[in-house]
Amino acid sequence: MQAIVLVGGEGTRLRPLTYSVPKPMVPLLDRPFMEHVLLRLRDAGINEVVLPACYLPEAIQRHFGDGERMGMRLHYVIEEAPLGTAGALRNVERFITGPFFVFNGDVLTSLDLGAMLEFHRRSGGIGTLHLTPVEDPTAFGCVEREPDGRITRFAEKPKPHEVTTNSINAGTYLLEREVLDRIPTGRNVSIERETFPQLISGDRPLYAYATEDYWIDIGKPENYLKANLDILRGTMPLRTVGPSAEAAVKHPSFVGAHSTVDRRAEVGPGVVLGRGCRVAARAHIYESVLWDGVVVGEGASIEGAVLAGDVHVGANARVERGAVVGHGERIPAGSVVPAGARVPTPLPA
Ligand code: GTP
Repeated sequence: MQAIVLVGGEGTRLRPLTYSVPKPMVPLLDRPFMEHVLLRLRDAGINEVVLPACYLPEAIQRHFGDGERMGMRLHYVIEEAPLGTAGALRNVERFITGPFFVFNGDVLTSLDLGAMLEFHRRSGGIGTLHLTPVEDPTAFGCVEREPDGRITRFAEKPKPHEVTTNSINAGTYLLEREVLDRIPTGRNVSIERETFPQLISGDRPLYAYATEDYWIDIGKPENYLKANLDILRGTMPLRTVGPSAEAAVKHPSFVGAHSTVDRRAEVGPGVVLGRGCRVAARAHIYESVLWDGVVVGEGASIEGAVLAGDVHVGANARVERGAVVGHGERIPAGSVVPAGARVPTPLPA
């Protein structure tokens, strides 16, 4: 079985985090997000993966290489200009030999891929889309279906009064190879807005596979933080990380290699420290993710925030809930990064 993992997006909603790394490389606990995704594919018996990339592709290639280290075969295809979520698939058709999985490179889910494959084979459709229920579907692509799973209609970001279902496109697809022939070449094509709506008017049905597995799109800072916390709390089962070695840290938390926490600091619960972080006395960190090399000064406080690599938080500074701080930023001693602020302020998308 082959898979395509879409990793070409600019990740504008995650800015400023994605100024320094592409979205697939943002760390989730102890390793880049995409490594968790690839390990999940390998566990499901999918060893060959095509990666259509575009934004900062070198960071992905440098980390994963040809995949041999993970016992996988990885092929990179770099787009000069973004081809969109369907254009990117058409552009890698030379690698695809049969039915294939497609994954949005920003979805974390416990979906059972084997069960989805079985459903697809039984239904005999041209493709199968994974659906997940959400409380408020107005920001998503909603998918209407018959009781047997046949998809009848797509509604992209419906207004509240237009909502007819809370099942949304969850970003994992299983497609027959012939789908590739239906995607125009040489231009940006969206699978959600163009290809899927066209497919439902064809002769072979498109099916929905709805499950209530763990599912989150890490493409927004609040979701990215939540994904880290869910793994710490065990809500999202992930076979990785051992317990933290630091006595000063309250569980569940994760402390990366070579990080030091003063025993008079208060860290956790719900804290992820990357590698080589330093936390000084009387600092207070709660429900936050700090990437590698972050330095937290004496008496500083960080709550519900995400700090990219090598950020320095000065003594007695305060980083408030929902704040996101980009790579290498200096937060002056005694200053406040207010709730929801982004430092630096991202340029408009
Ligand atoms: P935002 O800018 O924050 O919306 O993020 P994004 O650019 O990643 O877009 P979105 O979340 O809608 O993309 C869904 C998935 O498709 C992600 O895994 C993206 O990496 C990927 N993707 C989006 N556009 C392209 C593209 O033009 N080419 C390729 N190869 N992948 C893409």
